Amino acid sequence: MTQFWWVIYPYLTLAIAVVGTLYRYRSDQIGWGSKSSEWLEKRFLRWGSLLFHWGILFIIVGHVVGLLIPVQAFDTLGIHRELYHRTADLFGGLAGIATWVGVLLLLIRRMVFDGVRRNSSTADFVALVLLFLVITLGDMQTVIMNNAVGPYGYRHTVGPWLRGLLILHPDARLMVGVPIILQVHIILSFALFAVSPFTRLVHVWSAPLRYPTRAPIQYRSRTGFRR
Ligand code: HEM
Repeated sequence: MTQFWWVIYPYLTLAIAVVGTLYRYRSDQIGWGSKSSEWLEKRFLRWGSLLFHWGILFIIVGHVVGLLIPVQAFDTLGIHRELYHRTADLFGGLAGIATWVGVLLLLIRRMVFDGVRRNSSTADFVALVLLFLVITLGDMQTVIMNNAVGPYGYRHTVGPWLRGLLILHPDARLMVGVPIILQVHIILSFALFAVSPFTRLVHVWSAPLRYPTRAPIQYRSRTGFRR
């Protein structure tokens, strides 16, 4: 099972993610993106989206720094391990909590508001529920376990395993003693990568760089404007 979860499964899900994204891009240009639902509900969306998107940006930077840069590089730069963990816990924790509140608001909004729910597909719910689970487990490790039990040295296990995976030389044994919360966090992350091409998450590949300069789109209601 160790080989399955930490070698076969990650490559399988990544292959689905790459092939699926290319297929969706070629076959569904009109549906590509994240269909707006702002006109159906604004208040939860504003806060949920803001907290989630800013939070996730910091989380991505944190994952790249913590997992892709080897510990030895920090040692060479004279960054003490204690300092690294304190900084990672503080900023990772704050960003993690902001992201969690954001995704929770987005999930509640999609379930509770009638118009939003009726305009949602199964894929919308699958993506949000998976995001919620992945972020909750990440936060459980960083915010709760690291403070209650002590920091876990993922830079000696998860980090080298992930770098090995990226250079096609993964060592599954590195993942054997990893806390179960983190193992499930990572397994669900790969499930998220696999389903992402079939959801609104494809919009991460289309940064709206021209958005601030493009002409505004105007909406006019035929039945009178309702908030
Ligand atoms: C290859 C996939 C991933 C790996 C190997 C990974 C690994 C990790 C590790 C090692 C931690 C730190 C735990 C600690 O502090 O001891 C963590 C935390 C976290 N992860 Fe991930 N993760 C992955 C994907 C994701 C994804 C896709 C998301 C969000 C959608 C995510 C969100 C978080 C959050 C919110 C935290 C807590 C805050 C933080 O420490 O940055 N992770 N993850």
